[in-house]
Amino acid sequence: RKQEKDGNFMGVVIPFGGSADAPLPSLDALVGLVADDMGRVNDGILARAQSHVELIPEIAGHLINSGGKRIRPMLTLAAARMCGYSGEHHIKLATAVEFMHTATLLHDDVVDESDLRRGKQAARVIWGNQASVLVGDYLLGQAFKMMVETSSLDCLRILSNAAAVIAEGEVLQLSISQDTSTTEDAYLQVVGAKTAALFSAAAEVGGVIASRPRDEQAALESYGRNLGIVFQLVDDALDYSGKQASLGKSVGDDFRERKITLPVVLSFRRGSKEERKFWKRTLEDGNQTDDDLIYAQKLMVRHKAIDDTIERANHYGDIARDALAIFPDSAWKSALLEAVDFCIVRAY
Ligand code: IPE
Ligand code: IPE
Ligand code: MG
Ligand code: MG
Repeated sequence: RKQEKDGNFMGVVIPFGGSADAPLPSLDALVGLVADDMGRVNDGILARAQSHVELIPEIAGHLINSGGKRIRPMLTLAAARMCGYSGEHHIKLATAVEFMHTATLLHDDVVDESDLRRGKQAARVIWGNQASVLVGDYLLGQAFKMMVETSSLDCLRILSNAAAVIAEGEVLQLSISQDTSTTEDAYLQVVGAKTAALFSAAAEVGGVIASRPRDEQAALESYGRNLGIVFQLVDDALDYSGKQASLGKSVGDDFRERKITLPVVLSFRRGSKEERKFWKRTLEDGNQTDDDLIYAQKLMVRHKAIDDTIERANHYGDIARDALAIFPDSAWKSALLEAVDFCIVRAY
């Protein structure tokens, strides 16, 4: 790819429209570089989702075979390779990371009562909440077995910490949902926990398994954490501005779930008294009619709430990019940098 040959894609203004000279940022470079490793991760995913209890591979397979971008395991693989790692353990770590993610999706769709995941019916719709939660737990257990197999206590520490923090973030979100007085800071605290913790752990363990010095591990941790924040901010913008077909999940889920995400926080704070009444009725009282989502989207346009959510994402994207500055230039580094751009361009 042209960007790789030039070796200096970054620093160029992101051409959101895309063109022949400057194609839209994508995950293609990353996907291409990790292709071999990812093949092995995918084999591991299928193998480790097996069980003599048939319902387990049935439910896990439904979600796994529905696709998914595999961003988090790619971070682990690319971080390890960028750090010159030539062993085998990064495969198990990446597989464990994707299992942790898969488990949180199974759990999250129960918590959020979501109907659609990766373009298909959510597992909980087909098999129910109980089976979904338990299969999520199984995958989490399988993930920890793989971590132990790497014999890296540091990786186990980082990933087990992330598992606890993710759950903490989901519970924190539950406790502040339906509260329109939620601050941007509280929202960021949720995002930092439920999403950024796994991105950061995914990237960090790549450097840890490669036995890189502490500053490089910390740089990867920062890269992942800030990329994770970008990812969730954009995801929350897309929940109001995206298209179901490209998202693979329903637009307006957050509104129906009465979740207080940044587009809502900004619209509420910038809104008139009348508008705040609207947010309180729909999100606090849960009194919603069919047209309310459209009106909510209109208010977000009026107050630039989506634009500014993406603007905030850009800020964290800058931090993620700068974090990687201490690594020498390489195709791996360029691909990790482009992943930041991709997560932002996804918003458009
Ligand atoms: C979805 O993550 C959950 C969020 C953090 C918003 P992804 O968008 O990475 O999900 P898949 O794995 O590609 O389906
Ligand atoms: C995704 O969170 C799950 C975690 C990050 C733990 P959300 O509920 O915000 O994301 P979607 O919209 O269901 O993918
Ligand atoms: Mg959800
Ligand atoms: Mg959720």
